Parts: sequence; C-alpha cells; structure tokens
Amino acid sequence: MELARRRGFIWPSFEIYGGVSGFYDYGPLGASIKNRVETLWRKFFVAGEGYMELSSPTIGVEDVFVASGHLSHFVDPIVTCEKCGDSFRADHLLKERGVDTEDLSYPELQRELEKNKITCPSCKGALSPIKTFNLMFGTSVGAGERRAYLRPETAQHIFILFSRLYEFYRKKLPFGISQIGRAYRNEISPRQGLLRLREFSQAEVEVFVDPREKEVHERFSEIEDEKMVLVTGEDKKLKIKAKEAVEKKLVAHQTLAYHMIRTLQFLISVGIPSEKIRFRQHKNTEMAHYACDCWDVEVSTKRYGWVEVVGIADRTDFDLRSHIEESGADLTAFVRLEDAKEVEKTVLDPDMKKLGPVFRENAGEVGKLLGKADPANISADGSILIDLNGEEIRVEKEMFTKKNVRERVEGEKIIPHVIEPSFGIDRIIYAILESAYSEEERGGESRVVLKLKRDVAPYDLAVFSLVSKGGLDERALEICEMMRKAGFLTFFDTSGTIGRRYARADEIGIPFAVTVDFQTLEDNTVTVRDRDTMEQERVSIDALTQRLKKAEIDHS
Ligand code: GAP
Repeated sequence: MELARRRGFIWPSFEIYGGVSGFYDYGPLGASIKNRVETLWRKFFVAGEGYMELSSPTIGVEDVFVASGHLSHFVDPIVTCEKCGDSFRADHLLKERGVDTEDLSYPELQRELEKNKITCPSCKGALSPIKTFNLMFGTSVGAGERRAYLRPETAQHIFILFSRLYEFYRKKLPFGISQIGRAYRNEISPRQGLLRLREFSQAEVEVFVDPREKEVHERFSEIEDEKMVLVTGEDKKLKIKAKEAVEKKLVAHQTLAYHMIRTLQFLISVGIPSEKIRFRQHKNTEMAHYACDCWDVEVSTKRYGWVEVVGIADRTDFDLRSHIEESGADLTAFVRLEDAKEVEKTVLDPDMKKLGPVFRENAGEVGKLLGKADPANISADGSILIDLNGEEIRVEKEMFTKKNVRERVEGEKIIPHVIEPSFGIDRIIYAILESAYSEEERGGESRVVLKLKRDVAPYDLAVFSLVSKGGLDERALEICEMMRKAGFLTFFDTSGTIGRRYARADEIGIPFAVTVDFQTLEDNTVTVRDRDTMEQERVSIDALTQRLKKAEIDHS
C-alpha cells in the first residue's frame, strides 16, 4: 500500500480536505492497470462469450429498488456512539471481540453487545441501541420530484431492460448481457482500503436461461475437466473437476459451474495464482435475498486473509418476477414447444342478434371480448362480467353459448432465470498487486519488483538511454515515439543512473526495459531487459515491435 501510494497507483480521495474513507482515486499507474483488467475482462466475457455490453445510468428511480428488494433488505445493523457520534456495524464490533455473529438476529446482536460490554472503539463512549441503516445513497431527480438512489449494483438496469434485450437477441434463450460500471454503497466506517469502498467498479454478467435448461450448458465439455477448490455450505473443502462437482450436486448445475471455471481462468489470466483461489458456497443464512445458490470466489491475501472478489449466483426468476409485479410490464420469454400441439378448449360464442339491441355501437367490441373471455368466470346465474374500456358490464346468459374448439399451442410464456457472475474490479486489482509484489535478494543486492502479467502491467515497456550524452537521449526518444506509434504504452526516463532507472521500472512492474547505448548508434540494435529474469538480449530496432508483441489471450 505504501508503494501503491508513493508511485501513483492509488491515492485516498479528498486528501487536501482531510480525506473521506471508502473513496480512492486511481493514479496514472492504477488507472492503467484498471483499464487493462477491464479490457481483459471484455475479451473473456464480451468477446469470448458473446455477452454484449450495456452502459446504463448510475442513478435508478425508487421503483427499481422497491422491486429489487434493496429498499427493504439492503440494510446493516449499526450503533452510534452517544459521545463522539461515530457509527459502527454492530456485527463487526462483535467479530473483533471474537463473537460468531453469523446466525444472530438483531435482538441477539443487541444482547451480545451488552453481554460483552462493547463501547465506542474511538472514544469508549456508550453506544446507542442497534438501528438498521440502508446502504444506498439517496438522491432526487429534478427539484425533488422523484426519489432516486445511486445504484448499489449494475445488475438492476439489465433486468429492467429485459424485453428490449430479448428482442435484441431475436427472442432466443439463453443470452447474456454484461456491464462494467460504478456501484455505490454507503458502507459504515470502511477501513479496508480498496476492499470496502463506498464507490467501486463492478463487472457483471446476467445470463438469462430457460429454468428447465440451466442443468446443461452447451460449452460445458470445454471446461468439464478443469479443477476448482470448493468450500461447500457444510464447510467441506475439496478440489474437484467441474464435471464431478455437478454430478455430485455440490454445484447446482452446469451453467453455474461453467461460469465458475471461466471466472477462475480469468483470475489466473490477470495474475492471481490458482492456489490462492477458492469457491466458498453461501450458507442459507448468508444468501442474498434474491439467490438460491451462490458461490463467493475468494482470494487468499497476506493482509486481509480470504477476500471475496467475485460472487456467482443463481438469482432464479426473483428479479424479473419482482419487476413484473412492480411495473406491470411483460418481462417474460416465449418458449416454442418442439412439437406444436393441438388442444381442445371451451370458448364463448356471442349471439350478435341478441347483443346488438342491448349494446348497440359497442356490440361488436362486446362480442370480441366474449370470444376471449374465460368460461371459468361465468357466474352462478349463467351471466358473465367483462371489462369494456375500463367499465365492468354484465352480459346475460341468453347472449352467448359455449362451444368446444381445437387450438394449436406453439409454446408458452416463462420467466427466465438469471445466472450472475459479479466481479469487484477494485478487489481484483488489490489481489493482483498483492500477488505481484515481491522483494528479492540477488548478488548481495535487494530489489522490489512487481511481477505483474504483461497484459495488466501499467506500461508495456520502458525506454532508457545508457547515459545522457553522445546523442543517446535523442535516439532513445525516437525509439520511444516509434513504440508509442505502434500502440505500446511506453515509459521514458532519463534521470538518474541506469541502475536506478531499472529499479524504478521494476518497482512499478514494467515488463521490459529497452536501453539505447553506443552500439545502437553503430548497428541499430538495443538491449531488451526482462524484468523478472533481469537478463538482457540484443535486438535489432526493426524487430523490436515484433519481439515485444503481446501473446494472444488463450480462452481455452
Ligand atoms: N449483483 C450482485 C452483487 O452486487 P455482491 O456480492 O454484493 O453482489 C459483487 O458484489 C462484488 O462486488 C463482490 O464480490 C465484491 O468484489 C464487490 N464489492 C461489493 N461491495 C464492495 C465494496 N463495498 N467495495 C469494493 N468492492 C465491493
């Protein structure tokens, strides 16, 4: 963290005004890494899986969060110090005292606070009784006309666009949609750097599936032999192939397991070692209000222990169903039956001669409505009520008869289920930086090196001159410009000894250093130094871009 601040990866926000916890700025190096992680994510999930991207407003109107359940469920138990006014999460205070709070209700948490005589960690003042605190940042649209909130997840905008997306995907299931963007949570006293932010970046995918088909994923055979470490809801720990995990019902179905393995592959590709990654299943007591099976992808960190970086959930039809109920919109999919079938059904047959004199100019419309009416709604006296332009009217029994007809049924309406991998970009960046950080001793010298994967390093290469005289700086600058034009993020540095410059480049993870020396002026070659091995090779300038070209991403 000291290095990250000193060299410009991340800085606490609002520093000149005293700082506010839970907000960080990415400096130039951090922003570069973040862009690259997101680019890789797009390669995996947008290009690799075909989950096209949305870009939605970060503000949502209140109705969205009434339906999603965030207004009522997205709450934490807090206590406030009666002396200094600081607020804390009650469960966190208890956990710090070693109390297991997992299954405790609010009254039980309150009893534990009292039993353990817990006071304010800042000033030892007395604490208020537990209150619930909603984590969404509230705001209003216009001059207070409509209550709104900063979105606590990017997902909701995908759900409310379902019918448009369904059209976009030519009315076929399954399909996936992704979104990378900011999410906001008004966390209580966040004290874990990039891990618990009040504004953070999520990369989410919502895969809409026919619930009867999620058992099978069409690309499952590509990953079925990949292994993952699971910690099940019953705390059973095992390393197992995706195929076996599904067969043994440890993971609910192939669609979930497929996305778990893709997530594992992505995390490895950005530089998190596989042995530091595990999947922990939510216990029933911690499952989000919308999910039926949920796995946290956790990374082992030196500083914070196991940290959740991705959540992979089967959200069932919870979200679409809730938005249907709240908005009245049709968010269903029409699933064609493999064999269309003929069914016999009873319908009402209007007698127009009798309807005409009674309903006059409305008779035609009443006739049509009768044709669509459900015979089950006929009252005991044989009449039926129908809705004519908002008005309920009674049609007497003499005005229609019942008849049986045969009808072709092509398919049925269903509410799709949603499988959601939800990535926290900032936590992933923390895990990448911590995994890459190393201190080495070589030949009596020590160095700090960030062994970042090439695809997520903040620069592709550095260009140096061996010394600043004899036209070497000028030649180095020419090479730097050549590499920039070729699309490489190139760092140029002429200050200090070459040894110091290598050390500074290693410390921020630049994979290659290209050095111009006097031989360059004679034969147009430079040295290319590898950050990790520190070995140097001589390369012709003409071959430099080819030599440093990135390897294509392997999606297999
Ligand atoms: N749409 C599902 C959802 O939002 P979540 O588990 O609440 O699920 C997904 O969040 C991911 O977002 C987490 O795995 C974590 O990486 C990241 N995340 C959540 N809250 C965060 C916070 N306060 N600061 C930084 N990252 C956070």
